[in-house]
Parts: sequence; structure tokens; C-alpha cells
Amino acid sequence: MKVVRDLAELQGIRRLRRASGRSLGFVPTMGALHRGHLELVAEARRRTDEVAVSIFVNPLQFGPGEDLSRYPRDEAGDLAKLRGAGCDLVWMPPVEAMYPPGAATVIEVAGPAEGFEGAARPGHFRGVATVCTKLFHQTGADVAVFGEKDWQQLQVVRRVVADLDMAVGIVGHPTVREADGLACSSRNLRLSPAERALAPQLAQEMRAAVERMAGGATPGPVLAAAEARLGAAGFAPEYLVLVEPETLRPWQLGRAGEARLLAVARLGDVRLLDNMAVRLPG
Ligand code: PAF
Repeated sequence: MKVVRDLAELQGIRRLRRASGRSLGFVPTMGALHRGHLELVAEARRRTDEVAVSIFVNPLQFGPGEDLSRYPRDEAGDLAKLRGAGCDLVWMPPVEAMYPPGAATVIEVAGPAEGFEGAARPGHFRGVATVCTKLFHQTGADVAVFGEKDWQQLQVVRRVVADLDMAVGIVGHPTVREADGLACSSRNLRLSPAERALAPQLAQEMRAAVERMAGGATPGPVLAAAEARLGAAGFAPEYLVLVEPETLRPWQLGRAGEARLLAVARLGDVRLLDNMAVRLPG
């Protein structure tokens, strides 16, 4: 496994790979790797000849109130996990290589970037869209694999790739969960033992709501009751909403088809995100 920290070296490797005709699968990460990330690597492995992973804690996607310096970092542990997962190349750019002095271009996305996490974290998706665009160009990826866990991020990245006619194929991989149903996330590391014990209730409430709505119950009251139970249990729910899967527009009442249930609930200062597919009978 090659670890690259220099852009010129990465560009040289990209030229050689292009000439060899080998395809590249890519998994962008901010490190603190868990089982969910390793499944994305395995998905990329199944689809392409070689796999690259980036580890870059992207300052552009953190807001002023969000503590970039507190983001978990474990370079040695991450590299050991990637070696075990059969990764071929790790791209670990220094911040100055990604955003050199004078850099003045960002990717601004409307549509699916506007509500939910886009509203809660102004500028977040500008940072995600900009860094992903740069990473796709830098690596020359043929396919990039993202977790469905960050559903809105996946839709924003798909939008950017479609709107900018980029040649990279975007693959969404189903959310990887702990045995108790909690969605794998590096944020889970910040939960206290008591919060960690409570956390799976978010997915349990969502699963129960999905089943009731799929059985014909009206979404509004089902979601309001789930939110109230989460609040009573000690969560601070931010949203539990039914949306169109790609545009993230509100799901029209009475419409049949596949919607997406998006949820964010805070436990202490940790914002837990989750989402599930819902097939509505209409
Ligand atoms: O999901 C993440 O870890 C980040 O948002 C990403 C896609 C690596 C961009 O920095």
C-alpha cells in the first residue's frame, strides 16, 4: 500500500495508471476509520482494479462553531486498517496542498444541499462539494463509493457530478450498523457510556415508524409520536422527516412510492444522523 502526501507524486501515479488501463475505485474519508469505511473499501474493491482512499480532515466543511481540532485522528490505526482491507493507495494531502494561499474557487450547490444539514451547518456542503470535486480530479477515480449513512451528502455529491459532467460514477453503499442497530459513525466515539447505551433507540424508533408507514399509517402522527418518545428518552430530536430520496423535497401526503426518512437527534453535544428507505402504499 502506497501512502502519498505530495500532489505531484499522486499525479504521476494517476498518469501511469491511465496508461495501464486499470480502473480506480475511490473512498474519500476524514480518517478515524471504522467498519463502515472498510465496507466502502470492500465495495470499491469489487468494482475496480485498484482502490484509493483519501484521509483528509477538510477544514472547509467545518463551521466557525464546530471544533475542527477536536475531530478524532488516528493516522497509524487508519493505515493499519487500510492495509488489512487491501487498499492500494492512501492519499493524505496536507491542508496547504488542498487549499494553497490564494485559492479562490468553491463549489456552491443549491437543491439537495439547501435544507436539513445544509441549514443546520451553513457552508458545510460547499466544503464537501469543493473537496470531493478536487479529490475526484486529483485521484482520477473512475468510481467513488459513499456511505448512505450521510444520505444528504450522497445526493449533493451526485448532483455536483451530474451538473459538472464529471466522469466519475457515484456508488452509494447501505449504512453499516452496530449489532444493536446504531449506524456506524466516528461521532459514536464521542458518546458517553450512558449515551451509547441510549443511542440505538433512534434507529429503533425509525424502524418502527417505517413499518407503520409502510403498513398505511399517516406519516405526520407516526413521526410526531416517534419524536416525542425520543425526547422523553433523553434525545434532543432536530428533525424526523419524510422526503423525496434524490431532491430531498418534502414527500407529498398520500403519494405512493419510495420515500426517505431522514433523522437527526442530539445526545449531549453529539448529533446522531440516520436515514431509512420507506415504501409508502399511497
Ligand atoms: O463523509 C465524510 O467523511 C466527508 O464529508 C468527506 C466525503 C470525506 C468529504 O470530506
